[in-house]
Amino acid sequence: MIITVTLNTAIDKLYLVDELLPFEVGRVREVVNTAGGKGMNVSRVAALSGEDVTAMGFAGGYTGQLFRSLIREPNIRPAFTETSGETRSCINVRDKKTNRSTEFLEPGCPVTAQELDTFLADFRRELPNADVVTISGSMPAGVPSDFYSGLVREARALGKPILVDTSGAALRETIPAGPALIKPNTDELGQLTGADVSSMESCIAAAQQLREAGAGIVAVSLGKDGVLVVSKEGIFRGLTPDVPVVNTVGCGDSMVAGFAVSLAHKKPLEEAIRFAVAVSTANALTKETGYYRQEDLARLLPEIRVERVSRA
Ligand SMILES: Nc1ncnc2c1ncn2[C@@H]1O[C@H](COP(=O)(O)OP(=O)(O)OP(=O)(O)O)[C@@H](O)[C@H]1O
Ligand SMILES: [Mg+2]
Repeated sequence: MIITVTLNTAIDKLYLVDELLPFEVGRVREVVNTAGGKGMNVSRVAALSGEDVTAMGFAGGYTGQLFRSLIREPNIRPAFTETSGETRSCINVRDKKTNRSTEFLEPGCPVTAQELDTFLADFRRELPNADVVTISGSMPAGVPSDFYSGLVREARALGKPILVDTSGAALRETIPAGPALIKPNTDELGQLTGADVSSMESCIAAAQQLREAGAGIVAVSLGKDGVLVVSKEGIFRGLTPDVPVVNTVGCGDSMVAGFAVSLAHKKPLEEAIRFAVAVSTANALTKETGYYRQEDLARLLPEIRVERVSRA
């Protein structure tokens, strides 16, 4: 079983309109509500890969109830901690004429110290049953910046691999606690290390710096150029073929799910890289976020090249 942690949950509302015109009444042709937050994408992709998922984080109020009800996959168990504040909504208005989106992201309600304590108690109760834990996304207001590092320490104390996919101070503070894997993209890698990451050599140097600071595996995702993996077993590249991309939103989350599923089954690193690249590329082939078709995955798996760049 995989625990996914999504503290900053949201109801993602997709509004399809004929044409978005400011200061006019807009008729919404179609509404699609999804249980959102980056860890929910991880949950869906891990569940599609056959894994049981316990989805944790915060949900509150009427929108919190709607959020829970939107999780319909039989192998995702919602185990969210109740908050007094309402779960936020994030609205994506898609203009059918141009196929472009305009997003409105609510800030969300702060969580209280007591709600954080309740979450910790819930997390400690579920943790012994997990094979792997993932933490994704930003933190709501009211959560101290060292909160993720506390979760990493708790998981490590029980010998559970924990993967962290976030950015800024939350990620920086988490690294010394020793997450099994972090998955920055190049923007996040550059921001974190302050280094220029425009060449492969500079990416490797920056990733090595994060490994020395405490991260077990540093998987730097490179969009269509696949992934660079720096680990104690050596440095690897995972390369993806050219594909007809439909929607890349959630590709990073799908990659995290791919690594989490592989770690849960103690797969060798090169196999984990192949699976993570294949799953994330398959996500790019569908319009949904955090979803892939099994036939795309089966076709892509043998097409992913995993190359060793150097020894450890
Ligand atoms: N255009 C693309 N073509 C093929 N594969 C892609 C493409 N974009 C992303 N991928 C796959 O998804 C992985 C993760 O993508 P990316 O580096 O864009 O993550 P990200 O920036 O963290 O994304 P997000 O946080 O929006 O989910 C890549 O390593 C690659 O395997
Ligand atoms: Mg990302």
